[in-house]
Amino acid sequence: MKALILVGGYGTRLRPLTLSYPKPLVEFCNKPMVFHQIEALAAVGVNEVVLAVSYQPQAMQDFLESEQQKLGIKITCSRETEPLGTAGPIKLAESLLNDGEPFFVLNSDIICDYPFQKMLDFHRKHGGIGTILVTQVEEPSKYGVVLFDKDGKIERFVEKPPKFVGNRINAGAYLFHPVILRKLLLRATSIEKEVFPELAAEGLLYAVELDSFWADIGQPKDYLTGMCLYLSNIRNKEPENIMYGPEFIGNVLVDPSAKIGQNCRLGPDCVIGRDCIVEDGVRLIRTTLLPGTRVKSHSWISDSIIGWQCTIGEWVRIENNTVLGEDVSVSDEIYVNGASVLPHKNVTTDIPDPTILM
Ligand code: GDD
Ligand code: MG
Repeated sequence: MKALILVGGYGTRLRPLTLSYPKPLVEFCNKPMVFHQIEALAAVGVNEVVLAVSYQPQAMQDFLESEQQKLGIKITCSRETEPLGTAGPIKLAESLLNDGEPFFVLNSDIICDYPFQKMLDFHRKHGGIGTILVTQVEEPSKYGVVLFDKDGKIERFVEKPPKFVGNRINAGAYLFHPVILRKLLLRATSIEKEVFPELAAEGLLYAVELDSFWADIGQPKDYLTGMCLYLSNIRNKEPENIMYGPEFIGNVLVDPSAKIGQNCRLGPDCVIGRDCIVEDGVRLIRTTLLPGTRVKSHSWISDSIIGWQCTIGEWVRIENNTVLGEDVSVSDEIYVNGASVLPHKNVTTDIPDPTILM
């Protein structure tokens, strides 16, 4: 069985992290985003994953080599010379996908407890051309809204409706019968705006509801919300991977190679990446430290993402959706509020208000 993951786009909403790595390779909860999906696909028997890329394909291919070997599956890149939207890349990869079996298509920036087996079982029963995973959200206007009947048959698909039409949205995971390939064109097309509405009108699409958490993690605020949801799911499913002890509060994930000093208070909702060093007396709340970062003694960080190989001085305070790019250093006793700091910068004066530091 095959799958295609849409990994195009420049990931601009996740800058400055995506200035160093393509979005799918940015770690989310100690694993590159796309690995969460690839591993869940492999678990239901997918043996070939096609990454539809329009940006940094070499960086991607190198990174995926090890994952390929670990999972014993094939991972290939299908490269666009110009962005083909969300439908064109599927047509471009037709020869790689069409083996007569249904195949999965995923947006690369969504995280959930992927119910791929449930999608397969439902798809086999309903006889339509496609199955769309749907979930319920509070702000449906940011997404594709899906209206369906009690059997799951989709009646309407409306991408980003300005007015309320429903609160069940496209969660960004599909399973298609290969005949859909005949309906797609090899040009820039939006599957949400140009393909789904027509297929829904013909009664060929079905919706299956997600019964656990879901988040689009393509921007910092949502990344942190998704991190909290993911960690509480880990607590339920793999409690042995959560940290316990007087220094940990709530759900905290620490890579085994990270070093934690004395008298720290970490959590709730923190992720500490590979080779990080957290010195004595550090306080972290709702924060991710990406690999190789050092936080010196008595610093306090909340609601932030700290990029790779950063150095945070002593008695620093960082908060309010701050995102530090790769290799940023913050001097001792500095205050950073809601900043987005580009890679390789030295922060030597306070940043009291949300801003982008170029
Ligand atoms: N290869 C390729 N080429 N991939 C692309 C391109 C392109 O030209 N444009 C976008 N993508 C990829 C993105 O990397 C992402 O994985 C996926 O297609 C969806 O694009 P987004 O830009 O993230 O769309 P969105 O978040 O505004 O909306 C989509 O996702 C929602 C769920 O998060 C839609 O599918 C909505 O209907 C859906 O509700
Ligand atoms: Mg998105």
